[in-house]
Amino acid sequence: MLPGNPTLRTRPMSPLDRILATADGALRTLTGANTAARPCPAPPAGAPAANLDDAQRRLSGALMRVNHVGEVCAQALYHAQALAARDPALRAQFEHAARDETDHLAWTQRRLVELGARGSLLNPLWYAGAFGIGWLAGRTNDALSLGFVVETERQVERHLQGHLDRLPEHDRASRAIVERMKEDEVEHARQAQQAGAAPLPLPLKLAMRAAAKVMTVTAHYV
Ligand SMILES: [Fe+2]
Ligand SMILES: [Fe+2]
Repeated sequence: MLPGNPTLRTRPMSPLDRILATADGALRTLTGANTAARPCPAPPAGAPAANLDDAQRRLSGALMRVNHVGEVCAQALYHAQALAARDPALRAQFEHAARDETDHLAWTQRRLVELGARGSLLNPLWYAGAFGIGWLAGRTNDALSLGFVVETERQVERHLQGHLDRLPEHDRASRAIVERMKEDEVEHARQAQQAGAAPLPLPLKLAMRAAAKVMTVTAHYV
């Protein structure tokens, strides 16, 4: 936004603007140039991973890498669905959710660094795959596109609950981040449901679960 130029400030985005903004989002996601709009929910601490032994730190690092990949995919899905959406209100809803997901991405990225872990080497692949799926969902119809969001967010919510069961009890920082992300994902699903989501056919839900399983198992290690 340019404060001194009212024309540029109020001009609606053209299709080319949106494509460029989407490309910018992809580059930011994959290069780690993200800034959270909300403060990280992790409690402040001088040595954030100092209370964990090596095995706990490795486990937390692996689980947070999986969560970081999930957020890379969330960026791709929401950016693609926003780009594909024909309805401006729906596009705005996807863009709003994408901003929450940017916070999640920045928080998990920060926690990976604190744990001495790295992001997945396959992030470009995950991003490209999720973008393609999001684009297809977004071009079908609005109700199905929203149904895809509901199913994705519910699967992510269950996955995050599974990580809360596995994260070391002492890793309060990772746990606080995952808790807040889970709350946000529940809200994203609720908003998509309220906006008119259609239920997805069972085979599609099962295919989404299988794809998520491949991603989470691989990202634990790579
Ligand atoms: Fe998220
Ligand atoms: Fe979400």
